[in-house]
Amino acid sequence: MITVATFADVRAASAGRVGLAPTMGYLHDGHLALFRAARAGSDTVVASVFVNPLQFGPNEDLSRYPRDLERDQRLAEQAGVDVLFVPPAEEMYPVLPKISVIIGDLTDHFEGARRPGHFAGVAVVVAKLFAGIQPAGAFFGRKDAQQLAVVRRMTVDLSFPIEIVPVSTVREADGLALSSRNRFLTADDRRSALALSQGLFAAAAAVEAGERAGSALEAMVVDAVGAAAGIELEYAALADAETVQPLSELTRDAFLAVAARVGETRLIDNVAFSVGADSVTVDRGDILTGPSVLEDV
Ligand code: PAF
Repeated sequence: MITVATFADVRAASAGRVGLAPTMGYLHDGHLALFRAARAGSDTVVASVFVNPLQFGPNEDLSRYPRDLERDQRLAEQAGVDVLFVPPAEEMYPVLPKISVIIGDLTDHFEGARRPGHFAGVAVVVAKLFAGIQPAGAFFGRKDAQQLAVVRRMTVDLSFPIEIVPVSTVREADGLALSSRNRFLTADDRRSALALSQGLFAAAAAVEAGERAGSALEAMVVDAVGAAAGIELEYAALADAETVQPLSELTRDAFLAVAARVGETRLIDNVAFSVGADSVTVDRGDILTGPSVLEDV
């Protein structure tokens, strides 16, 4: 694996079908799942590590976002990455972009409503990565379900000839979805945070038993989170997977999302539903079989 700092060097080091996994670093097993998915279908696997200031609001955690490049290099190489792109800010933003990439009403609710400007910042940096690297495929985690919808729609609207490949959420053995922010959880926070996945799993089981009402599914998450100490629920909502509008009945592909503040840390999670003619398939994510790589920090 080589580490490069410019778009030109990424293109020079790439051959054949290029698979791109964009990240902000401080890698966890969810990122490694993106790299492995990219490895399976690509000649060259490019992973980017860039903490994108444009997607952080003024009161968000940009300055405390965890960073450890040496560790990221080691983990990326082990997971089959060929080219690690670590651009300095001057490479990504030689000038402050005047362009805005606004994805209409896909960002009206949920994360978009709570984090004004966040998805515009994500869309600009992802568009720059797509234009500068020109991958054939790009890999995004389902954990950020609204981001996935935004990136998919941007790819269509701007005619990027890129296949967007969703990758299931990776969870620790007890169900906690992996996130770089988990490192900020105290032992008590971490115990409380399990209420998010427990609520989602209860709702997923209800869907498998035939429940389709958004209000009933949302209530299961609200109840689980409400019963845990030290958690402030922001939302629990069923949303259309493509349009990201609230959904009252599970009649098309959707996700049930939750966001909550656990101690000082804001966490999001979801389960995804694929609606077929006679049944609904649930993607709860994949449970890690070994210890999380976040434990070796
Ligand atoms: O999901 C993330 O880590 C970021 O939003 C992304 C896609 C790398 C853009 O900065």
